[in-house]
Amino acid sequence: MTRILMFGLILAAGCAPAPAGAAEHGRLLLIGQPTLWLEPGPGEPNGPPMNWKAGTELTVFADCPPEAAHGETWFQVGQDAPAGWLPEACLSLPPVDFDESSLRAIGQARVDRTAGLPPNYAPDDLVSVGPRYEQDRDYKLRAEAAEALAAMLAAAKADGHTLYVVSGYRPWSVQQTLYERKVKAAGRDQKTVAKPGHSEHQLGTAVDLTDGNEETLLRVSFGESPAGRWLREHAWEFGFAQSYTEHNEAETGYQPEPWHFRYWGIDQARTKHLRALGVEE
Ligand code: DAL
Ligand code: ZN
Repeated sequence: MTRILMFGLILAAGCAPAPAGAAEHGRLLLIGQPTLWLEPGPGEPNGPPMNWKAGTELTVFADCPPEAAHGETWFQVGQDAPAGWLPEACLSLPPVDFDESSLRAIGQARVDRTAGLPPNYAPDDLVSVGPRYEQDRDYKLRAEAAEALAAMLAAAKADGHTLYVVSGYRPWSVQQTLYERKVKAAGRDQKTVAKPGHSEHQLGTAVDLTDGNEETLLRVSFGESPAGRWLREHAWEFGFAQSYTEHNEAETGYQPEPWHFRYWGIDQARTKHLRALGVEE
């Protein structure tokens, strides 16, 4: 079920018994610069500037149902009272109530379009990983994932495939920058960059890999390269699974990413990887 549909159902369910006034329905996190997004009515430009910062929790009021305009769903949000309309693309669901200690266990957290991480969450056991695609960048993963990655890259190399790390842990703020850049370039319905809080990269266990060929860098064609095929065949043996595939595109809401692998640990990786690829066990 898409997020918009989910919101629609949740809000529709919440609207009927709403008392007069602004009955609180739920909370959403603001993404990005409010002045860019806040509009007085759904789809109407030039809303008043607001001082809300990215990551602010806003209230969706039950007596102000979402409206469709310009091909998007708009929510009336505010803090103590409805203050303006925002499109779905600049709001994310608030984080699932994670006890941060539960995030220590690798491969337990659900991170997808509807379940996200708190803006201030960062793992405390990040270590640098390589070889790096860009020498002046420092890519990090959680220690256990880093160790598994080193073993996987050594095995790939022994089979003739040199792989480089092109992304690892990304804080909420970095994901926000990437998301906003992508939305500006490709529109609010883009299907390649997760909203901040909703990227597996914030877990510190997801890695993007390349064979160093610029032509296939972060492109679907990487999946058909010898290195990409090696990863598809062997990643699970090291505890990694490809997260976004042609098979699960409708479910995840993201286009296939044959370069993006999440570390789940040996016990779970095979099942996750084969399921993502649509391979019957
Ligand atoms: N490209 C993946 C979906 C991310 O942004 O985490
Ligand atoms: Zn990635």
